[in-house]
Amino acid sequence: EKGGWSSFMRKEISEEPDAVANTLLGRVVDGAVVLPELGALTPEVLADIDRIVIIACGTAAYAGLLGSYAIESWARVPVQVELSHEFRYRNPIITPRTLVVSISQSGETMDTLMAVRFAAESGARVLSICNTQGSSIPRESEAVIYTHAGPEVAVASTKAFVAQVTALYLLGLHLATVRGTLSPAELAHNIDELQAIPAKLADVLVASEDIGQLAGWMADTRSVLFLGRNVGYPVALEGALKLKELAYIHAEGFAAGELKHGPIALIEPGQIVFVIVPSPRDPSSLHPKVVSNIQEIRARGARVIAIAEKGDAAVLPFADEVIPIPLASPMFEPILAVVPLHIFALELATAKGLDVDQPRNLAKSVTVE
Ligand code: BG6
Repeated sequence: EKGGWSSFMRKEISEEPDAVANTLLGRVVDGAVVLPELGALTPEVLADIDRIVIIACGTAAYAGLLGSYAIESWARVPVQVELSHEFRYRNPIITPRTLVVSISQSGETMDTLMAVRFAAESGARVLSICNTQGSSIPRESEAVIYTHAGPEVAVASTKAFVAQVTALYLLGLHLATVRGTLSPAELAHNIDELQAIPAKLADVLVASEDIGQLAGWMADTRSVLFLGRNVGYPVALEGALKLKELAYIHAEGFAAGELKHGPIALIEPGQIVFVIVPSPRDPSSLHPKVVSNIQEIRARGARVIAIAEKGDAAVLPFADEVIPIPLASPMFEPILAVVPLHIFALELATAKGLDVDQPRNLAKSVTVE
């Protein structure tokens, strides 16, 4: 039930902190990740895996892309992300040491189910991340990590996305533990960061209360671009997808480093560009590079909305608007940065008078190939 909310989507966005908290519940014990549901995928099996292929569609695939950065970085195993419907048609290389991880909110997406079946028949180990108990995909997988986001009714996925990322991060930290690739201090730090996310998400919801006004003056816009780099890149893709789905506006997400290789040609005066800015504390020095991207597009007349760490003074002179997010380690910032984009898509669709729970032409779960 919607309760007092104007739409399921608005209610489900408000539940993003709980979706993460409930997905973590019982899975961190005495400072260690505990996933008894992995069953046959024992620590020995997981220590021996030499490649991971994540398969999913839509929003779930963007959660997978974000998870791939975390798993590779923490567990030092190569991770490839494939759209489910592309996966089995490329004659993929699968061995008994390949772990295929499917991600699906509904557990019924036919493209993903078929890919899971193909992976199992090809001899891969198959793990699924799913939000729906007893659905088809978990039944055909060796093991399941359930996300506990609660029922998601709105067609566009929001709270399931943050829960999927949480499950992938738990998996990444578990793999790092069994493979011995992070020190005890690094493990403890990342587990602390993960556990701090629900409270920070609650802060983001409060800080995002003015996004409705922002969306108001953009209701007539025909195109919105999203730029992000590294872990900000999947956030850019997710922000663009939400806007297409809900507001029927042309939207594209780009890797910020790619800007000069093509997309900058799209920038003309008035073009709205959301930029997901890495933390100025990020040791990889991506922050100055993204700030310089902002200067480049600003110089060509773009209207820039920056999603940046609270207190990041470097973006202020160049952004038309800054949406602040709480401080977190770089790997965890995207879980916070995505929420304003969910809200923006909701508000823009609302400003256009559209049905946010049931966008045209879309279904919550696509059970045909
Ligand atoms: C699409 C939905 O059809 O399926 C998206 O419109 C969703 O919102 C995608 O992300 C995948 O669905 P699922 O249930 O497999 O996560």
